[in-house]
Amino acid sequence: MNAETAPPKTPYELLGGQQVIQQVVDRFYDLMDSDPQYAPLRRIHAADLAPMRHSLAGWLSAWAGGPRDWFDENPGKCMMSAHRGLGVSREFAAQWADAMARAIADVAPPDKALAREMALRLDTMAKAMVVD
Ligand code: HEM
Repeated sequence: MNAETAPPKTPYELLGGQQVIQQVVDRFYDLMDSDPQYAPLRRIHAADLAPMRHSLAGWLSAWAGGPRDWFDENPGKCMMSAHRGLGVSREFAAQWADAMARAIADVAPPDKALAREMALRLDTMAKAMVVD
């Protein structure tokens, strides 16, 4: 396949694939676990974050156009509906989006514009989860 017929690269590929997504997720939960400003958000998560490190990385991979294993493992599951029962406040959404933006900036995927766009879209999504 030459360059003219090759399909455009997905955001997943441009970001650096599974390795970079997992690095972002690990940094995100490390920040949530260690920075006191995220303590309220940390408290509503389970003590063991290992399942979340797996699940969020799987969801983000599929979201960015990569492997869709997460959706195969969670048929019909909608991220927005799954969060409705959590009573996401503005403060929780801001803490989530802030930790995620920091994690992305710290990992620093090579495509800087796409990395910024990723943080922006996830911020929009976190705000859309607010129920107050
Ligand atoms: C773009 C925004 C967000 C995304 C993509 C996201 C993604 C996820 C994913 C993939 C899961 C795991 C679901 C599963 O495996 O069944 C999850 C669970 C969870 N999320 Fe979010 N989330 C977002 C925003 C938020 C916000 C703003 C809060 C704040 C309240 C939050 C709190 C939680 C909690 C408490 C859980 C359950 C964790 C546990 O059982 O330990 N999330 N989220």
